[in-house]
Amino acid sequence: MFIKHSIIERNAILMGVLTLITVAIGGLVEIVPLFTIETTIEKVQGMRPYSPLELAGRNIYIREGCYVCHSQQIRPLRDEVERYGHYSLAAESMYDHPFQWGSKRTGPDLARVGGKYSNEWHAAHLIDPRSVVPESIMPGYAFMAERSLQMADVADHLKALRVVGVPYSDEMVAQAKADLAAQADPDADTDGLLKRYPKAKTGDFDGNPARLTELDALIAYLQMLGTLVEFDKVQPGSLRQ
Ligand code: HEC
Repeated sequence: MFIKHSIIERNAILMGVLTLITVAIGGLVEIVPLFTIETTIEKVQGMRPYSPLELAGRNIYIREGCYVCHSQQIRPLRDEVERYGHYSLAAESMYDHPFQWGSKRTGPDLARVGGKYSNEWHAAHLIDPRSVVPESIMPGYAFMAERSLQMADVADHLKALRVVGVPYSDEMVAQAKADLAAQADPDADTDGLLKRYPKAKTGDFDGNPARLTELDALIAYLQMLGTLVEFDKVQPGSLRQ
């Protein structure tokens, strides 16, 4: 037996081929069962595609590299759940292209930051973090309050996401520009918007109702994070009591 094995050990090509076969068997055992199930993501109620304004905010979040300091993924560990809330479900990032799980927490996890603070707090914090958290090392983003939101091509963003599987309807695409404006306008009729995007937060976000700025979009996105799934209605075995 050992003598036979020494034949393999002395022949690099034979060793390589046999190693490949062994690894392939392991790989197939892991992968093949996945082909037999329809989806690897458990469906949960409440998840919906992002509204045009939230999507615009998300694009800014990515542009500014917020993910470099913030994760959006709560691990199923007791300390994380007690600090941030219910652990993240796969379904919660199913419409994320690309996902924003992040890999480093210089600042706290943001997966459930929606509703934790008021719009005013977010505006003050993003303009000058030290005005509300004196010891903060987060950079300020005051310029966002001055910059008008550039999203003339928002319908195309929705269409592009549809290509990769986000279920934006034709109506959502057709109304994208109007929905974008309506969500941040305190005087707008938001019935249609809320039908298309249930639970979307509406109104002025940045403290300046006269203007649609990048700050409006970013705060709309932050206020939505973690608010779509109602965890009291999800599966038993939920860690939160
Ligand atoms: C250099 C790292 C860094 C970057 C980049 C950064 N942050 Fe932060 N962030 C922090 C730190 C540290 C804190 C904790 C102190 C504080 O609240 O300011 C924080 C706190 C926050 C909070 C409050 C979270 C809570 O639960 O209290 C929000 C919201 C936030 N950041 C959003 C953002 C957004 C949006 C961006 C991108 C525009 C961003 N951050 C970029 C480091 C960063």
